[in-house]
Amino acid sequence: MTDVSTTDAALDLTPQQPALDDQTSDDTGPAGNGGRDTLTVTDNRTGQTYELEITDGTIRAADLKQINADGEGLATYDPGFVNTASCRSAVTFIDGDAGILEYRGYPIEQLAEHSTFLEVAYLLLNGDLPTEAELEEWVHQITIHTFLHENVKQLMQGYRYDAHPMGMLMSSVSALSTFYPDAVKIADVDNRQLQITRLIAKMPTLGAFAFRHAQGKPYVYPDNRLSYVENFLAMLFKMSEPTYAADPRLVKALDILLILHADHEQNCSTNAVRSVGSSQVDPYSAVAAGIGALYGPLHGGANEAVLKMLRRIGSVDQIPAFIEGVKAGKEKLMGFGHRVYKNFDPRATIIKKACDDVFAVTGVNPLLEIAQELERIALEDEYFVKRKLYPNVDFYSGLIYEALQFPPEMFTVLFAIGRTPGWLAQWSELVQDKEQKIARPKQIYTGHRTREFVPMAER
Ligand SMILES: CC(C)(COP(=O)(O)OP(=O)(O)OC[C@H]1O[C@@H](n2cnc3c(N)ncnc32)[C@H](O)[C@@H]1OP(=O)(O)O)[C@@H](O)C(=O)NCCC(=O)NCCS
Repeated sequence: MTDVSTTDAALDLTPQQPALDDQTSDDTGPAGNGGRDTLTVTDNRTGQTYELEITDGTIRAADLKQINADGEGLATYDPGFVNTASCRSAVTFIDGDAGILEYRGYPIEQLAEHSTFLEVAYLLLNGDLPTEAELEEWVHQITIHTFLHENVKQLMQGYRYDAHPMGMLMSSVSALSTFYPDAVKIADVDNRQLQITRLIAKMPTLGAFAFRHAQGKPYVYPDNRLSYVENFLAMLFKMSEPTYAADPRLVKALDILLILHADHEQNCSTNAVRSVGSSQVDPYSAVAAGIGALYGPLHGGANEAVLKMLRRIGSVDQIPAFIEGVKAGKEKLMGFGHRVYKNFDPRATIIKKACDDVFAVTGVNPLLEIAQELERIALEDEYFVKRKLYPNVDFYSGLIYEALQFPPEMFTVLFAIGRTPGWLAQWSELVQDKEQKIARPKQIYTGHRTREFVPMAER
């Protein structure tokens, strides 16, 4: 066992007086520190005081290493990275308390209302909205890269009939790295751009093939006369008709949903993309890691879990008993709560509106009534109010997806298609950031130390 018997400063909660020689006579700031952007730390194990730079509201964890009473250097312990910045990023801004989400400075509400998914993708990747000519060229490039190599199709056909489409998506995206071995040249800006274009273009094709596979239907090739979302819907649902004509209101709703999912700063999957990308692997492998992270029920899988939960509740009169179970810690109210948003999730507000547009075309999903009543009751309940638990983006998105005829296993695939430009914008930023290193967190070792190997007969 590691020796933890020393009196750690963090455990001693008695306020300590600063050492006398730290109180310089020219201290003028309200805190008596001369207004300097620094943090003074006293290590109560040694009585030694250290001054650490504060930049952008952070101290550098590496600066703590100089606090070195035990020969190891002080580190931070932060499971789940709840209070650790891992990068500097100019892509997405979130103020969780105020419910603000901005891509490159543009509020999500304005983008959802006025923009399109591909324009938002351009914005995320390039930093500014495109001119008309730039957008036209970008859309053209995406459109001409939608086809897959036939061997990718064969790879997907090799899956069992009931393979989860997320598993198929994850592995087929990683397989793309073998089809485009040049993708490993990540220092070459043109090469990066080509792989980014390819991946954004091919994601709907991969997602649609995975969907058709589960249905035992022939895969539908892209139709480059259609828009990004129309083409996706055609590859999903087209049967024998020469051209698939999607209802424009449903196209718009799906486009909005993709916009809402396009980026969300350093969430679990983006962190996975950055972490894997920090090894300088190609972007397909890095994004495949992000898809893996998104697959989990606490991240992208939550909307699927919401629908299952609503189905299990079954009717409005069962809600109070369900809520009591949640409060007793038996299970979570899926689609509620967020690591960052502690007031409301602006995406949930936009999705609620989109629900109306979709249901006007498809008819109301009977689970909507349960969801609305669940939300009403939870928002008035002390348990949820006290913990600042509000509906997140996943609470209503599953209902829309279901109305659009997607089975629950496809929900996360839709999320992944939407998130791809964000992952790639963050990956691009990472590979150009001179300060970044290979991601390699520390640990607090809690296991045995050097033991003698015991022969089998003596155990
Ligand atoms: C999103 C989520 C993972 C954030 O987790 P987090 O920031 O680590 O928050 P915590 O788990 O620390 O939660 C704080 C408290 O609220 C409770 N809580 C959080 N989410 C809850 C939920 N959905 N239902 C019931 N209780 C919840 C926790 O049990 C904890 O209670 P405690 O203080 O009594 O122990 C979490 O809220 C969750 O699991 N939500 C459901 C899944 C979901 O909808 N995910 C999609 C996210 S977009």
